[in-house]
Amino acid sequence: MTLLVTGGAGFIGSNFVLDWLDGRDERVVNLDALTYAGNLRNLASLDGDARHVFVRGDIGDRALLDRLLAEHRPRAVVHFAAESHVDRSILGPGAFIKTNIEGTYTLLEAVRTHLAALPAGEREAFRFCHVSTDEVYGSLAPDAPAFTETHPFEPNSPYSASKAASDHLVRAWHHTYGLPVLTTNCSNNYGPYHFPEKLIPLMIVNALAGKPLPIYGDGLQVRDWLYVRDHCSAIRTVLERGRVGETYNVGGWNEKPNREIVLTICALLDELQPSPEGPYTRLITHVKDRPGHDRRYAIDARKIERELGWRPAETFDSGIRKTVAWYLANGDWVREVQSGGYRDWVQANYAQRAATA
Ligand code: NAD
Ligand code: DAU
Repeated sequence: MTLLVTGGAGFIGSNFVLDWLDGRDERVVNLDALTYAGNLRNLASLDGDARHVFVRGDIGDRALLDRLLAEHRPRAVVHFAAESHVDRSILGPGAFIKTNIEGTYTLLEAVRTHLAALPAGEREAFRFCHVSTDEVYGSLAPDAPAFTETHPFEPNSPYSASKAASDHLVRAWHHTYGLPVLTTNCSNNYGPYHFPEKLIPLMIVNALAGKPLPIYGDGLQVRDWLYVRDHCSAIRTVLERGRVGETYNVGGWNEKPNREIVLTICALLDELQPSPEGPYTRLITHVKDRPGHDRRYAIDARKIERELGWRPAETFDSGIRKTVAWYLANGDWVREVQSGGYRDWVQANYAQRAATA
């Protein structure tokens, strides 16, 4: 038995592959283009492990997809590959349209063709699991109920619009062609191997380097944080027991304003690696806001709990402590990803955000 994972060298994908192979013998074929966000070092512990087959390639390459599907005959595809950073989508939306929409379309078509040629039993057992985001639902008012699976799609950034488009394609390929799809819409993840362009790892690595901690706008935007390994367990649950054609919201029941996240990170660093310069909060800077910044996301994760019995195992307190400890213990990983390309990105994104406080 084999799984085809796309984007398995990125943050969530690599955690998923490591988790999957920790105690399972089912092979993983990992297709990843190794963009700036993909990093084989995340998977170094699998070097020489025959259960992990890494293929560098693009989900938009139809010939490659056809070959991989025919050669490995996976029982499922778990589709993580995407451009994932909202700020990058604002500065350059083209790659998001290409990978998230066109790439997903190409993958769906390859799978559709492949399934048509399979014996009925194999076809019926097959699953296409599409990993999506809560951002497709748009922004919530402070006292509005959390997003359910029937909340209208109101994406506000090029990133979320491209993910919403991919969700619609996945839905249409099920309704029109009978593709056996499952979709998850998850809230903000955090944990090991998180690329330091996103809020939590950026704040940790900047604090340790004595650099400013750039909070966008007033810092009162709310996100619902989920430890990445809990997201992985939710995807495994949906893959094994989810009802074909359904979507499942995944979240941590952990709504927090950004400013509180940054204060928590500073307090943990003060405890675990105090700076001779004084408390890390001295580095907090408010900078120009993200254009079109969504004010609040919150996930109602009752459906996946009611139908499939999934709940997150980690609390925010335990997850963020593990995460900070991981970054402290993995300075080499951080230094390696902070390559020339990373420095160019930091310059492009933050040069336009003069400090406001
Ligand atoms: P990431 O940016 O860390 O990783 C994306 C991976 O996809 C990288 O390894 C990259 O090399 C690969 N990739 C990009 N374009 C590709 C292409 N054309 N062909 C093949 N591989 C390609 O992203 P992530 O944070 O791990 O997110 C993974 C998925 O989960 C995405 O679909 C994202 O929308 C979704 N998601 C993320 C979060 C979050 O908080 N990070 C929350 C909910 C859903
Ligand atoms: O909700 C799920 C989504 O979460 C995923 O679909 C995306 O792939 C993922 O990147 C994430 O999107 P966000 O935009 O919420 O994550 P990010 O870490 O970029 O930002 C979190 C919040 O922190 C957001 O309100 C913007 C703010 N922020 C971010 C950065 C990078 C800052 O205040 N300062 C920063 O420097």
